[in-house]
Amino acid sequence: MAGARQERKQNKVETALNKQLNEEMYSSNMYRSMQAHFMHENLTGFAKWCDVQAQEENYHARRIFDFIIERGWNVQIQHIQGPPTSWDSPLAAFEAALGHERSLTQAFYKLYKLAEDENDIATRIFLQWFVSEQVEEEAMLEEACAKIRRVADSPAGMYMLDREFSGRAADTATASAEGI
Ligand code: FEO
Repeated sequence: MAGARQERKQNKVETALNKQLNEEMYSSNMYRSMQAHFMHENLTGFAKWCDVQAQEENYHARRIFDFIIERGWNVQIQHIQGPPTSWDSPLAAFEAALGHERSLTQAFYKLYKLAEDENDIATRIFLQWFVSEQVEEEAMLEEACAKIRRVADSPAGMYMLDREFSGRAADTATASAEGI
């Protein structure tokens, strides 16, 4: 029958890529939740920053989604846990996000090693983009945390930083993929 999917056992790389797809979807939801939190806190620049990051994560998820399909494998969207909805301070929110990015980096390293062990060259090459992207993501979050730390006790400083964060734009690849 046209379009029917064959019943077959998932291979290890396919299973791990599906897990990572769901992690990226969680990440998008997490930044979206941070956006809502900052809107409530009247930190609209912080909210804009998180809006852009949520779109980035959606783009990451989409890249993995497309790759799974292109390999002729099955996409398996799983139950995605709800992210936190509030944080004690802007610094607490961004530090939690940095911790999350670090765990994603480790997940990509494991996935890369698995692709290597399974002799799956296409996946290994595909994952190289994500390994580089995670270096950028961690550096960006570290920089944001450092800036917030510097103004944490200064309402005027926080106001200025909020204005700075409001200027964050989507990167070119995400913008063209998301039509923004
Ligand atoms: Fe998709 Fe922030 O890593």
